[in-house]
Amino acid sequence: HRVLVLAGGLSPEHEVSVRSGLRVAESLRRLDVEVQTADVDAALLGRLAADPPQAVFPVLHGAPGEDGVIREVLEISGVPYVGARPDACRAAFSKPIAKSLVAAEGVPVPRGVTLPKAAFRDLGARELVDRIAAALGLPLFVKPDQGGSAFGAAPAATAEELSNALVSSFAYGDTAMVEERIDGTEIAVGVVDTGDGPVALPPVEIVPDGGVYDYSARYTAGRTEFFAPARLDGAAAGAAMDAALTAHRALGLRDLSRTDMIVEPSGRVVFLEANVAPGMTETSLFPMALQAAGMDFGITCRELAHRALL
Ligand code: DAL
Ligand code: MG
Repeated sequence: HRVLVLAGGLSPEHEVSVRSGLRVAESLRRLDVEVQTADVDAALLGRLAADPPQAVFPVLHGAPGEDGVIREVLEISGVPYVGARPDACRAAFSKPIAKSLVAAEGVPVPRGVTLPKAAFRDLGARELVDRIAAALGLPLFVKPDQGGSAFGAAPAATAEELSNALVSSFAYGDTAMVEERIDGTEIAVGVVDTGDGPVALPPVEIVPDGGVYDYSARYTAGRTEFFAPARLDGAAAGAAMDAALTAHRALGLRDLSRTDMIVEPSGRVVFLEANVAPGMTETSLFPMALQAAGMDFGITCRELAHRALL
């Protein structure tokens, strides 16, 4: 089968996507799948029309891969593709919308607010920070309402850090999401569906050396310790896997996803976000989860591509 892997894209996660896409493409080639790779550019539409692949595997992080836009193009082009449909991508890619949909299914989410960039300008940094701290307390976590790989995301333990974190977040988007900081074990749970319905993979535990899972901790080998499976008791691991499946279904996702959560010391699982195009780099969580489940990365990618053709 001829598969077109889309990687790169226009978001700050371009570089990560290139690494993810290469790994998917190379794993498929090793299984003798005919693979081509392409970036999102002016030539893409013409290429899809002139030489349609049998399936597209979008490995694009951020916009326009994860927000649904490229998948609209694929729908219009009539080319089958791996992963969630455009409307589901839109819901998952907006962290506040995803939180509300998943919370409606009974999964706990952090308390928080979303703020337009204009609030910073209109109220002034000090007033805005004081109001947020009064409403939510400290410590907090700030991130753009859309995006990935921790770009523009930072913890804030003091008013000054909150002010700086808002500036960083607004550098990556016009809406910031400010949340209470949840303490506990940071985990990610992959969900994969190769034909028999969505299955949750073993939770992967994330222990960044500096305590914060920022860009460098994500993509520099050795900077984060991973436990796959996570060091959770059976009940907490089961609850986390159930929560990931609930998120996958509540957001209407398809084929694969990765839900990021925190397990509190009490065992309570708190949803942070769901990713429709999880990272596939050498230090990424989804491939580690597949390995922990005893599933081969390349074979799983091939099954997902096959499934797109059904
Ligand atoms: N956004 C990055 C690639 C991830 O979720 O793994
Ligand atoms: Mg993410």
